[in-house]
Amino acid sequence: MDVRSHPGAGTSHGVLLFNSNGMDIVYAGDRITYKVIGGVIDLYFFAGPVPELVMEQYTELIGRPAPMPYWSFGFHQCRYGYKDITEIKNVVAGYAKAQIPLEVMWTDIDHMDGYKDFTLDPINFPLDQMKKFVDTLHHNGQKFVLILDPERDASSVFIKRDGVPYLGEVWPGKVYFPDFINPQGRVFWSNEIKIFHDLLPVDGLWLDMNELSNFISSPSSSSSTLDNPPYKINNSGSLRPINEKTVPATSVHFGNALEYNVHNLYGFLEAKTTNAALINVTGKRPFILSRSTFVGAGKYTAHWTGDNAATWDDLAYSIPGILNSGLFGIPMVGADICGFGRNTTEELCRRWIQLGAFYPFARDHSDKFTIHQELYIWDSVAATARKVLGLRYRLLPYFYTLMFEAHTKGIPMARPLFFSFPEDTNTYTIDSQFLIGKGLMISPVLTSGTVSVKAYFPSGTWFNLFNYSNYVNMKSGSYISLDAPPDHINVHLREGNIVVMQGEAMTTRAARDTLFELVVAINNRGNSSGEVFLDDGEDVEMGGEGGKWSLVKFHTNVVNKKLYLRSNVVNEEFALSKNWTIYKVTFLGLKKGVSKINAYNLTTKIRSKIDKSASGVLEMRGLSVLIGKEFTIELTLEK
Ligand code: NOJ
Repeated sequence: MDVRSHPGAGTSHGVLLFNSNGMDIVYAGDRITYKVIGGVIDLYFFAGPVPELVMEQYTELIGRPAPMPYWSFGFHQCRYGYKDITEIKNVVAGYAKAQIPLEVMWTDIDHMDGYKDFTLDPINFPLDQMKKFVDTLHHNGQKFVLILDPERDASSVFIKRDGVPYLGEVWPGKVYFPDFINPQGRVFWSNEIKIFHDLLPVDGLWLDMNELSNFISSPSSSSSTLDNPPYKINNSGSLRPINEKTVPATSVHFGNALEYNVHNLYGFLEAKTTNAALINVTGKRPFILSRSTFVGAGKYTAHWTGDNAATWDDLAYSIPGILNSGLFGIPMVGADICGFGRNTTEELCRRWIQLGAFYPFARDHSDKFTIHQELYIWDSVAATARKVLGLRYRLLPYFYTLMFEAHTKGIPMARPLFFSFPEDTNTYTIDSQFLIGKGLMISPVLTSGTVSVKAYFPSGTWFNLFNYSNYVNMKSGSYISLDAPPDHINVHLREGNIVVMQGEAMTTRAARDTLFELVVAINNRGNSSGEVFLDDGEDVEMGGEGGKWSLVKFHTNVVNKKLYLRSNVVNEEFALSKNWTIYKVTFLGLKKGVSKINAYNLTTKIRSKIDKSASGVLEMRGLSVLIGKEFTIELTLEK
């Protein structure tokens, strides 16, 4: 995506070279060079002319992002090295005891028997006990996800070399790799998923090592140059041979497709196959997390940024990492919270959960032999986790509505600042802050020993979401220094936005049952808008034809010294059937006092204290407004 500061600031377009071969892409400030070692030249241009439209156009071609289940926006805990079922039970209990929300418990390859897919270690993770464990999670509104590596030990549906299945080496030892281009390979894989799911009803699948990762590098073929093409792409950032620790380029897939040409499609095809298999088995919206992706992978899978390290640098890199993924059309993305490799520290983990609570996909994951980093281990981390995850859970309706926008228009949930402020050229280089949606800005601490943050604020009024009467008012965009004490991350809502929230809870299921509230941040002219998408959170389709969902749009405007907040409901039946109710509306940014409040179509009277204080905050509590029913609230503003 190219965003230009002139002729018209923010003018954007997109370019895609749709080619799956090995390539280097060299960006030199004023030009981009593609150095491709095979395949076709299929070059697309997306006219924009603003970032949102580039995303709409791009994802119209490559596929709109998959809808993610509501529960997947809860907090996830994983670790490589959980030694047995007792340990994972203790982790779940540890979260409950510390009153930190835990939505999803994960296991890495540790649950497997000899590291083989679709198996359980009979001693440490015995099937009967695992079944009970998963049952209990489900009973408590929690979920379970486990890992798969794309390798198996027998059958004829594998990638071949020299006429026989190619033998690589991964966790279990010698392995073959399923060929997802082969229709029989897909049937085989889907069957394995079905058989396993019948045994243990997992809620999602994690697809690892699918680049393809191989522990060995096989010798090059003597009869072909494909294993050693004359131009060396910058493999692994250091010109490594293309066959290093993967399936050799001279291997073949179904239909004689050469690994040389299709290598980069492997993870994508595995995700696509797994997505279809899960829908088939569960009849529900699937959740898949894949390490390898390709153009269009967002249509099938979520993504994490891979093996980061528990360092401050990697904390900071996680922001451009997730923002890039959004631009690639994979909006459901996060980095391993608290860091994967190396030992984390209390301070780093505390800052990381503060940031990670706002990743679209929020999972704590660590490597074997590193110290434990579950959020309850340190008191200060636990306290901050309760605070920031508390806000995340209150924001679940907002995140989920952004998922709907991503699914229907391709616009990322986590966005660079230039998405909302393309005319402000200062935003173009900012990669230490980001937006959730249009107007919620996250400004994290990214360095050790720091209790303030230098944050850029585009023009406008920005309200502190932890404390509404605290705000930043910018005539024009500039950097300011914000307090960021050890337990705090700065989250600001910009004027002009209406955010729909619910209450804190320990699970997304419980949060969905709490009352709704609206935070209405009006601009100078009294305008603001926002919306909320509502469905059951796991229908295969999100917002499909004749589906069970509602979309409620809110906006404000001022006419004759009266401020109106109005709602407009698409498909009211669904929301009404749930009895979902707004109990509180908070107006931010009122310049004048309010002398009178009228409401139309409300079933209850408003018993609100009218606040004329300078803070501009007016809270209307104790309401009982059905979110599925259109209403108007009228505030008479003082002269
Ligand atoms: C590599 C993955 O990136 C990591 O997340 C996982 O823990 C290990 N493989 C072990 O399965």
